[in-house]
Order: sequence, then C-alpha cells, then structure tokens
Amino acid sequence: MNTAPLQGIKVVDFTEVQSGPSCTQMLAWLGADVIKIERPGVGDATRKELQFAPDEPSYYFLQLNSDKKSLALDAKTPDGKEILTRLIKEADIFVENLHPGAMDKLGFSWEAVHALNPRCIYGTIKGFPVSSKYKNLKAYEPIAQVTAAAASTTGWYSGPDNMPTQSGAALGDSNTGMHLLIGLLAALCQREKTGEGTYVYQSMHNACLNLCRIKTRDQLTLDRIGYLTQFPQYPDGKFGDCVPRAGNIEGSGVLGWTYKCKPAGGLDSEIDGNNYVYVILQRGAKDFEAACKAMGFEDWLTNPDFNTADARDRHKDAVHQRIAAWTADKTKYEVTEILGAAGVPVGPVLSTKEMMTDESLYDGNTLVKINQGGAIGEFVTVGCPFTMSNYQPQYGPCPSLGGNTDEVLKSLGYTDDQIKTFAQNGTTAPLAEPKK
Ligand SMILES: CC(C)(COP(=O)(O)OP(=O)(O)OC[C@H]1O[C@@H](n2cnc3c(N)ncnc32)[C@H](O)[C@@H]1OP(=O)(O)O)[C@@H](O)C(=O)NCCC(=O)NCCS
Repeated sequence: MNTAPLQGIKVVDFTEVQSGPSCTQMLAWLGADVIKIERPGVGDATRKELQFAPDEPSYYFLQLNSDKKSLALDAKTPDGKEILTRLIKEADIFVENLHPGAMDKLGFSWEAVHALNPRCIYGTIKGFPVSSKYKNLKAYEPIAQVTAAAASTTGWYSGPDNMPTQSGAALGDSNTGMHLLIGLLAALCQREKTGEGTYVYQSMHNACLNLCRIKTRDQLTLDRIGYLTQFPQYPDGKFGDCVPRAGNIEGSGVLGWTYKCKPAGGLDSEIDGNNYVYVILQRGAKDFEAACKAMGFEDWLTNPDFNTADARDRHKDAVHQRIAAWTADKTKYEVTEILGAAGVPVGPVLSTKEMMTDESLYDGNTLVKINQGGAIGEFVTVGCPFTMSNYQPQYGPCPSLGGNTDEVLKSLGYTDDQIKTFAQNGTTAPLAEPKK
C-alpha cells in the first residue's frame, strides 16, 4: 500500500544551493532515485554555508538533500563527461541550475542530453525567462523578489521604514523548485503518451511572479480607477502610478490587520516581539455580526460608518483602533480562542521557535525529525507539504560528499581498477597536491 509514486524514476541531479535541490528533494521523497553530482572536494556550496560546526554540513544543506545519493564528479574532465553520459543514458530526469551558459560549456545542454537519451526529461532553473533582457544574470533569492514586484509591494508604506522589503519566505528559491517540480511531473505524464522527454525551463522570476498575481490584479484596478479600497492609503492618502506597499493588509476584499496583544510569557516574550494576532472582518453581514458580538461591538451593527463592508473600508483606521484596544489586554492565544469560537478568521503570529516546538506539527509530514547519525544526530526539517492517502514518504539522512561514488560507478559497469583511476586522475576526487 506504500508504493512510491516515483518508484523506479532515475534522476541525475546537477543542482546546488536551494532552488534546484528543493525540487530534487521532493523527487527523492516521492520515491525517485536521485543522484546528486557534486564537485570533488568542493560539493554543493551550502555544505559549508552557515555551518554550526566546522567539519559538519550546515543545516542549510541537510534540510535540502535528504534521501539523495552523492556522486563526486568533475564534469570538466574527459572521464567525468563519459561517466555523466552513461548516467544520462539511463536517466528519466536531468535537473540543473548552474549559471546561464554553464551547462552548454560543459557539453550537457538540453539539445545534447536529448540527443543522448530522447526519453530523458530536462529541467532547468535560471533567474529569468529567456525573453528577458536579464536572462544572462546570475540570480539568488532577492534578485527574484525585487524583479517580480514582490519587494516593491511588500513592507511599510510610510515613515522611515517605507522601502522595498523582502519576504521571509523563499519565493525565489524553494518556491521555484516547487514550480519546476510541477513541470517535471507534468513532463512525466506527457512522456507516458509521447514516449519522449521534454525541456522544462523554470525561471525564479516567473515562479515569484506567479505568487504576485494579485499584485498585477491591483495594478489593473489602480490603472482604471486610481485607488485601491483595501489599502491603508484609502480613502484619505495619495496613490501614485503603481501598487504601493501594503503593510499588513489582507490583500483581497476583506478587512484584516495585525493587532498587538499582551505577551503571554514563555515563548511569547516581549523581547521577541511576536505578541500579535491577525484578525479578519469578512464582508458578509452575518459574519460581521458574529465578529461584533464576540468583541462586544454590537453598536457597529446599526452604525452606518461600520455596518457595511464599504463603510468599513472608508473607516478602517477607526476599525483598527477599536480592535487594537480590545486585543491589548488579551494574549494572542486568548484572542484566537474567542474569535475562532465565533467563526471569525483569526490566527496568532507565531515565531519559528513556537512553531518548531509545537508537538502537534510532528505528524509525520509537517515537521519531521531526520536521524543523520554521527556528530549531527537528529535534525528537524519541513517534510513533504502534502499528504497522500496511500503513500507515506520515509525521511532518510543526507549523503556525505561523494559518499555513493563507488556504488554509482559500479552500477554503471565500471571496474574496481577504473574506479581507482578516476579517484587518482581528478575525476571523482581532488587531484593530490604535487610533492614539494
Ligand atoms: C547560483 C549561481 C548564482 C551560482 O553561480 P556560480 O557561483 O557561477 O556557480 P555555478 O555552480 O553556477 O558555476 C560555477 C562553475 O562550476 C562548474 N561546475 C559546477 N558543478 C560542476 C561539476 N560537477 N563538475 C565540473 N564543473 C562544475 C560550472 O560549470 C561553472 O563553471 P564555469 O564558471 O567555468 O562555467 C548560479 O548558478 C545561477 O544563477 N543559477 C541559476 C539560478 C539559481 O538557481 N540560483 C540559485 C538560487 S538558490
């Protein structure tokens, strides 16, 4: 009953950092056999970024590479190219996210891989779509966020903090990996019908932009009428030509805001500053009545300044002030309980610590503990974000750099002598320093 959806699918994983590895991580958790190619002696850059101990891979690497095999391989050497060619001939999917042009230089472009193995699907991540004037730029997370209108629409809209702001969520990195995953899974279904692999090109820009769709909706509305009722700038402030930063508005037609609460103590300390709750007033009269009754604001039900959604949009400052006064002497958990029971959309602002210590989230998938063994022991990561009724991923450890090199080479038919030669001629291990 636990048949892995991608059982038997072979993936050559030429990815590094976060965007590509987040995609191949999911492929591995769905049961594919993922072979991660890493430069001998160097490996994925994240192995040594943000380390917690000098000789151990960082949590950054650990959280993105579980259940993969690591093949140390210099794809610039003739033997390295030959080994990669053999791997590709057996592969179902090849994935890469090197800088623009790097794969062509190595000789493993889509065209080259397609000629070697027409069934092989080729997934690639770059910063920008091929039509973009920025297509040759290298890209990291913030570059995607600033160019896809995510940063220009995020953050505070007035005062000294009014500047483009990045989201803490990895809209350009892991989100791009998930978008590529959709393309690769679609390509696998397509191959069932055509027998042929396809080229899936995913830019970080487009993945980020896909999550900024509602900001383009706002731009269209602004262009037409010159204002946006859900924004703090409405009705008294000024709108310019483009969608402004929105602070903590809900973003659609309902009225939402973040309200300060009394610190609950423990993990909800004053110092960490997450003593807030998000409350939403829905537009419907029945929903609004339930919210008013829960907060004791029954007078609003007959007051024309508040008893319709449009009126509340025009008087949102007064709405926010009154709700803020109501939440001020309650903890975010108390507010959530009171309003949640009344059917009002509400949620406490939770810190990473509060979330990661919530035992209910260790349900087998939401947050998972992986036993890496050795000096690292157990670490926590975010599991497969969806559940399947007939499949449960098993979360295993990450490979050491080149930890599966011999095993992979043997499976390709190389002899022990050849494997020894590859380790000595710089193909699968760094060349020995010349004797002085
Ligand atoms: C992330 C990024 C900015 C890093 O750029 P970079 O520092 O130049 O690193 P790259 O790994 O891409 O390339 C470095 C070199 O290593 C080489 N290399 C990487 N793996 C190799 C291997 N196994 N064997 C031989 N060479 C290898 C590349 O071919 C490249 O050589 P070149 O400079 O001669 O062309 C860039 O890869 C990029 O823009 N990628 C696309 C967008 C993306 O995914 N960004 C990351 C988001 S998390």
